[in-house]
Amino acid sequence: MKGLILSGGAGTRLRPLTHTRAKQLVPVANRPILFYGIDAMAAAGITDIGIVVGGDTAAEIIEAVGDGSQFGARITYIHQEAPLGLAHCVLISREFLADDDFVMYLGDNMLQQGLAGFVAAFEADHRAGAQPPLDGGSPPPAAQILLCKVPDPHRFGVAELDPQGGVVRLVEKPDDPPSDLALVGVYLFTPLVHDAVAAIAPSERGELEITDAIQWIIDQGHPVRHEELDGWWLDTGKKDPLLESNARVLEILEPRMDGELQGSSRVDGRVVVEPGAVLIDTQVRGPAIIGAGARLVGSYIGPYTAIGAGCEIVSSEVEHSVVMDGSRVVGVPRLMDSLVGRGCEVGRSGNRPSATRLMLGDDSSVDLG
Ligand code: DAU
Repeated sequence: MKGLILSGGAGTRLRPLTHTRAKQLVPVANRPILFYGIDAMAAAGITDIGIVVGGDTAAEIIEAVGDGSQFGARITYIHQEAPLGLAHCVLISREFLADDDFVMYLGDNMLQQGLAGFVAAFEADHRAGAQPPLDGGSPPPAAQILLCKVPDPHRFGVAELDPQGGVVRLVEKPDDPPSDLALVGVYLFTPLVHDAVAAIAPSERGELEITDAIQWIIDQGHPVRHEELDGWWLDTGKKDPLLESNARVLEILEPRMDGELQGSSRVDGRVVVEPGAVLIDTQVRGPAIIGAGARLVGSYIGPYTAIGAGCEIVSSEVEHSVVMDGSRVVGVPRLMDSLVGRGCEVGRSGNRPSATRLMLGDDSSVDLG
């Protein structure tokens, strides 16, 4: 079984964070989202992994992931000339995938549940299906999808099931969703999908949709198996889900102190302090992570906070927030529920007249609360 991770495309929905950066590299607990997907594949024993990259973000993804040895995997990069759809990614990966079954994983999705059970269920069906069905029963599934009940199905691919629980219809981001079952970004395919992606035409939005390819498989009379998601799932759309998954991952990190505590500094609870981080007269109450080389002075870091590498936090309180690499927060009495990108400055100059002075990127939002 091979793995295919889709990490091209344009990150428009997490603006302004992804104006300049791949959305798959946005950090959760100080690690790129994409890394959790690669980890999950490697943990399921899938180590021959293709990653689809494209456009302006290919170089930084290749730089971050490298040859895959840091994950115990072997990575092949597949370049997509434009974001022409998820099924287009399968089309251009034909040579890499050869005639193997494969797991396809959207590089901006993050799942609490691992992939091992999902893959094992599919393989078990195929072993059983290797014997001709004596009872004339159904052949093994040609594809497997993962579904999750959501309150806003129009934002996703949506599945319609028949009363026996069989998948009968899939529609991409419908105005009038036939159910509340969204497609999670993990799929399992047999080589039949290559016929499907070759047979379908681009959708109204000009993309080759994987939902249409799976629909083609169903329409040809092949069963598509589904599972319902166990645990939480993040599709990196927005700030709040990102803060939420940051919190969920921080809750299960193994505490570690590789930095330095000076003066009256204290850490309580589940806290990771990376090498080179220095805390001076600072209290950190976990779950929290302080990145390598960060400098925290006279501050309080509250639960569910990730401070990136090389950040400087001075005379401030930060809670339930993500502050990305190289940012400075100085003299801010209380920063909460916030996402601060890389290399940002948040501070108080004390200059008169006293005023809020901003330089915000496109699509930013500020709550002066
Ligand atoms: O997150 C789950 C949803 O993901 C599913 O419910 C939808 O059925 C599925 O179409 C997809 O919808 P999105 O609108 O979220 O897809 P997005 O454009 O964000 O792309 C998902 C990943 O695939 C992302 O890492 C970028 C990558 N990608 C996307 C396209 C369109 C590529 O590598 N190449 C592409 O051409």
